[in-house]
Amino acid sequence: MPLRTASMGERIAMYGENAFKIGFFGANCSSARTATLVPERWLATWPDCLALAKLADAAGIDFLLPIGRWKGYGGPSDFHGTTLETVTWACGLLAATERITIFGTVHAPLFHPLIAAKEFVTADHIGRGRFGLNIVAGWNEGEFEMFGISQREHDDRYEFAQEWIDVVKRAWSGEEDFDFDGRYFKLAGVRAKPQPYGGTRPLIMNAGSSATGRSFALRNCDAFFTSTGASRLAAAGTGADRPSLFVQTSKMVADAKAAAQQFGRDIDVFTQGQVICRPTQAEAEAYYRHANVENADWGAIERMLELKRITPQNTDADAFAAKRALQAESGIGGYPFVGTPDKVAEEFAALARAGVCGIAVSFVNYLQEAPYFCAEVLPRLARMGLRAMH
Ligand SMILES: Cc1cc2nc3c(=O)[nH]c(=O)nc-3n(C[C@H](O)[C@H](O)[C@H](O)COP(=O)(O)O)c2cc1C
Repeated sequence: MPLRTASMGERIAMYGENAFKIGFFGANCSSARTATLVPERWLATWPDCLALAKLADAAGIDFLLPIGRWKGYGGPSDFHGTTLETVTWACGLLAATERITIFGTVHAPLFHPLIAAKEFVTADHIGRGRFGLNIVAGWNEGEFEMFGISQREHDDRYEFAQEWIDVVKRAWSGEEDFDFDGRYFKLAGVRAKPQPYGGTRPLIMNAGSSATGRSFALRNCDAFFTSTGASRLAAAGTGADRPSLFVQTSKMVADAKAAAQQFGRDIDVFTQGQVICRPTQAEAEAYYRHANVENADWGAIERMLELKRITPQNTDADAFAAKRALQAESGIGGYPFVGTPDKVAEEFAALARAGVCGIAVSFVNYLQEAPYFCAEVLPRLARMGLRAMH
């Protein structure tokens, strides 16, 4: 295989020229991002993940972003009940692909940072500079109890994550025999070789949504992931004064970039969403209602709401019904891109005009739906000047 340089600029560009980057999100988890009972739902088997990675690599998709999930949500489909661990998943897929960037999604409190740093370096060498790190500080209590670890108070999670990423970055730096004397980690004589591929470091992203989470991302990461505000758009109703996807997103991007500037940093803003793309609008909408609403896994959806402390006991009946419906309709918290290739491409273009650098998308069944999406939506984006012709 030819050697490749791996400058930070090349890593951030994901070794390509696409102004608007596209990744596949959540393929390591059963049912991915749609809590649905339809029999064709994604099972996240290894052969399917491998086939998807090869398809994405060949089609010019920029990245794969897995979900860090240890414990499923139950419900009749056992939503996220079957998941592949993300760093080992990335290693296998990096070995089988040529150009796509593949992330690991790592809960900082569950991994010692020196073990994690070495796993990331190993993955990065396997992929010749194509490994990326998505740091999660943790929010799902049941997952942590399963490890016998109690969640810290919210802001302390990010203080811990700060020390954790500081240790990881120093381990990557090639510094010999360093000591680290923090509140959470006291490490003596640390040696960690080799450095990541090409002497630079993997891309780092985070998706904190609270003020503390967001400032952690803006301080430490190259990419900040956020939702395009499906819930805010829905909450604004359907009236003429409802903000458009473009207006809503422009504001979100401007706020994030301005906040990053306070730390003297430029940051790329990414978002995520579910795609249902079909030849006609009617077909796309019919399948969306069929998969997301008529066959929703309401048991799993109610469990996800319960974890966010939203229950019928503490929420009035109308508000609870609205939140339950939104959780299903949004593909568990994203914006649903539902329509013809023209419509999906136009909505992505609106995001790009709003300053979004890329999107991580999920499908009900990636292997069945991604080929049509790649064949029809990617060339349209290329003709709009948002992606290189592949
Ligand atoms: C695009 C995206 C990806 C995320 N991936 C994961 C994940 O894989 N595992 C996880 O436990 N949390 C994940 N999260 C949750 C966030 O890391 C974060 O915990 C959550 O947004 C709450 O924010 P806060 O920690 O600032 O309160 C993700 C969020 C977004 C928007």
